[in-house]
Amino acid sequence: MPGIVDVSQLVKTYGDGTKAVKGITFTVNEGEFFGFLGPNGAGKSTTIKILTTLLQKTSGSASVAGLNVESDAAKIRKIIGVQNQDTVVDEDLTGRENLVLQGQLQQMHGPAIKERVDELLKIVDLTDAADKRAGFYSGGMKKRLDLATTLVHNPKILFLDEPTTGLDPQSRAAIWAYLKRLNEQGITIFITTQYLEEVDRLCRRLAIVDLGEIVAQGTPGDLKQEIGADSISLGFENSSMNGGDVRTKARQVLEKKFDGVSNIVDSDIGLTVYAKNGSYMVPELVRAFDDAHIRLSSIGVSSPTLDDVFLKHTGKRIRVEEVSSANSRGMFGRRRR
Ligand SMILES: Nc1ncnc2c1ncn2[C@@H]1O[C@H](COP(=O)(O)OP(=O)(O)OP(=O)(O)O)[C@@H](O)[C@H]1O
Ligand SMILES: [Mg+2]
Repeated sequence: MPGIVDVSQLVKTYGDGTKAVKGITFTVNEGEFFGFLGPNGAGKSTTIKILTTLLQKTSGSASVAGLNVESDAAKIRKIIGVQNQDTVVDEDLTGRENLVLQGQLQQMHGPAIKERVDELLKIVDLTDAADKRAGFYSGGMKKRLDLATTLVHNPKILFLDEPTTGLDPQSRAAIWAYLKRLNEQGITIFITTQYLEEVDRLCRRLAIVDLGEIVAQGTPGDLKQEIGADSISLGFENSSMNGGDVRTKARQVLEKKFDGVSNIVDSDIGLTVYAKNGSYMVPELVRAFDDAHIRLSSIGVSSPTLDDVFLKHTGKRIRVEEVSSANSRGMFGRRRR
C-alpha cells in the first residue's frame, strides 16, 4: 500500500550549487507520527518545503496523499497544515485576526470559522491575548499562534518544522500533548525537532538525515536496540597531554585493552564509548586510563537513548536551542505571509 507521504530518490540542488538533498527515499504511513531528524543543514527544511509545495525539487518524485507535489499542488495545500521553522504570523493583526484570515484563505466562512478559532485559541492558551496585536506577543506566543494557524482548516496531515523550539518547557509539553491528541484522532504528523525524548515517546517511526542523505530509519525501539550496547560517556580533564591529543590517546588505550567496545565517538566533553555491559567495564577502564596518565573529569553509563542513535549515525549530538534565541527572533521587524 502506498504511504500518505511517498518520497523516492528526491534531489534538491539550489541555484548556488548547494546539494541540500541527495536522493532520499522514504514513506510515511497514514496516521503515523513520523520524526524527521538531523543536524543543522541536513536538508530537513528543504525536504519539508518540497513536500508542502513551497519549493521545487530538482529530480526524483514526491507525493502527498497520492497527489503529485508539482501537478497537484493546490489540492495538497487544502489537506495539509504547515508550520515553517520561522514563525510567520502577521504582526499587524491580532492573534484572533490571524486565525480568521487563515480560515478565510482556506475558504471557511461565518460561524464555522468563529467556533474553530475560539477552540484553537483555547488549545494554544492564547484566549486572553486573542485581541492583542501579534507584534506584541512574546516569541513563544507567536510560535503557538503560528501552530494554531496551521490547524484552522482541520488538515489531514501536519508538517511541522521545529514547532516547539524556543518554547518554555511548559508550553512545549502542552503542544506535544496536543499533537499526541491530534495524532490519536487520525491526523498524520511529520515533524522535525531537536527534542529526542518526545520523539522517543511519540514518534512511531523516524528517519535521520545527514548531509542530504538518510542515514537511518526505523522505530525508536529498533534503532536503540541496533546499538546493542550501553554508552559510556567519558570526560577528560585536559584536551591535550604531552605527546598529543587526549582523545587519540584514550582511543588507543580502549582499542588495545578492551575487546567489548563496539564503537567510539568523539563527544563535546571527550569520548562516548559503546560496549556491552558497560557498567562492568568501568572499574577496569578507570584503571587503564590511570595507568596511561589520562585524567578523567567525569564518567557515566547509560542504556542507549535516541541521543546515542543520533550520535552514532551523524557523529554529532543534537543541539537544543535555548528559549532566549526564539524570543529574540521576534525583535527583528515584521515577517509576513
Ligand atoms: N535558498 C537556499 N539557497 C542555497 N542554499 C540553501 C538554501 N536554503 C538552504 N540551503 C542550504 O541547504 C542545506 C540544507 O538546508 P536546510 O535548511 O534544508 O537544513 P535543515 O536540516 O533544515 O537545517 P536546520 O536544522 O539548521 O534547520 C544547507 O547547506 C543550507 O545552507
Ligand atoms: Mg531547518
